[in-house]
Amino acid sequence: MSRLRLGVNIDHVATVRNARGEGYPDPVRAAEVALAAGADGITAHLREDRRHISDADIDQLAVICRRRGRPLNFECAVTPEMEAIALAHRPHAACLVPERREEVTTEGGLNVLRGQNAIAPAVRRLAAAGIRVSLFIDADEAQVAAAKSVGAQVVELHTGAYCEAVRERRPQAEALLGNLRAAAARAAEFGLEVHAGHGIDYETVKPIAEIPEVAELNIGHFLIGEAIFIGLGPAIQRMRALMDEARASAAA
Ligand code: PXP
Repeated sequence: MSRLRLGVNIDHVATVRNARGEGYPDPVRAAEVALAAGADGITAHLREDRRHISDADIDQLAVICRRRGRPLNFECAVTPEMEAIALAHRPHAACLVPERREEVTTEGGLNVLRGQNAIAPAVRRLAAAGIRVSLFIDADEAQVAAAKSVGAQVVELHTGAYCEAVRERRPQAEALLGNLRAAAARAAEFGLEVHAGHGIDYETVKPIAEIPEVAELNIGHFLIGEAIFIGLGPAIQRMRALMDEARASAAA
């Protein structure tokens, strides 16, 4: 089984900064700490309403990731404005996500089946610029097939429903994990790289990391919350250790 990469999403460092309109805490400093603590890459979501990450943050994150030779995963909605920003920076990767202004976070995956007329040309233009394009989708085999047909190289499976069911001790959790496993296997059959993210914590990381096709996890909110108590570096190191343990026990 391949080594599982960890992308650290630093959006919510910016959420705390923006709550007071100050310049701190700085998400770029958080990215530096995350990389030093063993993150394989940095993920940041530039939302249309700029509620957390700003354009200036993206400018600086692109510089530090390039300088350190680590991937920046630029998350954005499928809009002409976001596509232009991605093309201007040419990050290692772009993850296309659905976005509704009223939502608290990214609730549910991109409907690639319904949106393929807009998504396919955006994927084509980003990929032509050398950006690895990922689509954030629900664990649904029809969405996986649609992602393949629009030319994505990667699918990121939305783990939010599963993680929430585990936290609330709901019996559906097992079935939701089964959906993630099935979608990951289907994506791999199509030759897509499989990532997973949303809502992952120290408990849910294990079953998700055990899915053999998953190559990368993107984790943010829990790590930033945990950083308040134990520091960002130690929180990332603990998550990394749990990922490695899960991978080793799945391979045994
Ligand atoms: N992956 C994607 C595509 C996301 O939109 C998010 C949330 O911004 C994450 C991963 C990280 O989710 P969380 O912050 O809940 O760990």
